Amino acid sequence: MATYKLFLLPGDGIGPEVMGQVRRVIQWFQDKGVASFELDEGLVGGAAYDVHGESISEDDMKKAMAADAIIFGAVGGPKWDGIPYDKRPEAGLLRLRKDLALYANLRPAIVYPALADASSLKKELVEGLDILILRELTGGVYFGEPKEITDLGNGQQRAVDTQVYETYEIDRIARVAFELARTRDNRVCSMEKRNVMKSGLLWNQVVTATQKDGYQDVELSHMLADAGGMQLVRNPKQFDVIVTDNLFGDILSDVAAMLTGSLGMLPSASLGAADEKTGVRKALYEPVHGSAPDIAGKGLANPIAMIASFAMCLRYSFGMGDWAGKVEAAIANALDKGYRTGDIMQPGMKQVGTVEMGDAILAELETLA
Ligand code: IPM
Ligand code: MG
Repeated sequence: MATYKLFLLPGDGIGPEVMGQVRRVIQWFQDKGVASFELDEGLVGGAAYDVHGESISEDDMKKAMAADAIIFGAVGGPKWDGIPYDKRPEAGLLRLRKDLALYANLRPAIVYPALADASSLKKELVEGLDILILRELTGGVYFGEPKEITDLGNGQQRAVDTQVYETYEIDRIARVAFELARTRDNRVCSMEKRNVMKSGLLWNQVVTATQKDGYQDVELSHMLADAGGMQLVRNPKQFDVIVTDNLFGDILSDVAAMLTGSLGMLPSASLGAADEKTGVRKALYEPVHGSAPDIAGKGLANPIAMIASFAMCLRYSFGMGDWAGKVEAAIANALDKGYRTGDIMQPGMKQVGTVEMGDAILAELETLA
């Protein structure tokens, strides 16, 4: 049996609590003899700043580089609002994405049958929803240079962020979109702002050219990103895979997340290029929700997105798609039985905390195994 090296970065806020439930799921896999994991743990975000004065230490960066997969909790909180910009908690996450070249961010938005009522949209609009937002994660305005605030000397300042994309960056994310579409409903919708931005124009052209170069079997459509946001709340089920840039992907994936009833439900995977020799991709798995400082440390956080992120890890890093499916089914079954954390609580259901939700999911996993 292969042993996989997992590097856990629980981070801040509810990160450590939800990570605690993933540890239990990992332990379950070990106990069952299904897979063997070697675990190491590091600090990121405010937790790292408090100890090292940086949002991630060099030592932990090395461990992240060497791991087969990184399981990431959440970063940030009001405690670190005043610290220097380059040391803020989010910088640790951005550095991991950039230095590990994790350019493909998969954000599935799935509505669990038991939660179709929890969405802010009408049930019939979201029931059965299964879309995948593919966000470009290492380029665009997040990382483009110059990125600065300069003093104009007249009491005014000038802030610049640079939206920049090169052909290869668009081509490689488009290829991931088409490959993923083939495993689903075979449709890709690309979103940009070609009517206003040069980077949108190039994005549109490159995605179109990439589809012609080997992916003509996949249906491709284009939408302006603002219209795409509107369509996501008007008729989300029209989409299969949405591919978009770093900033639009940040926004549209939050919109898509909310269609499912709670940000606490959604996992994500951030993948790098496949190694030429081994075919292995660097990978980081993280819930889409943030650190939720308001409920941190109270045992109330919803661990589902974190556990579902580990399921994505099984699928995309370790080729254990069957087991990933079982973890996901265990989550769905726990919800079917009425277990709800506060964020997804509904009348008549059973409100539980983080650990009890972990218990319920593990019990279902045991049954499915
Ligand atoms: C996300 C988050 C991050 C982002 C923050 C924490 C830097 O919002 O992963 O969506 O903007 O990418
Ligand atoms: Mg975001």
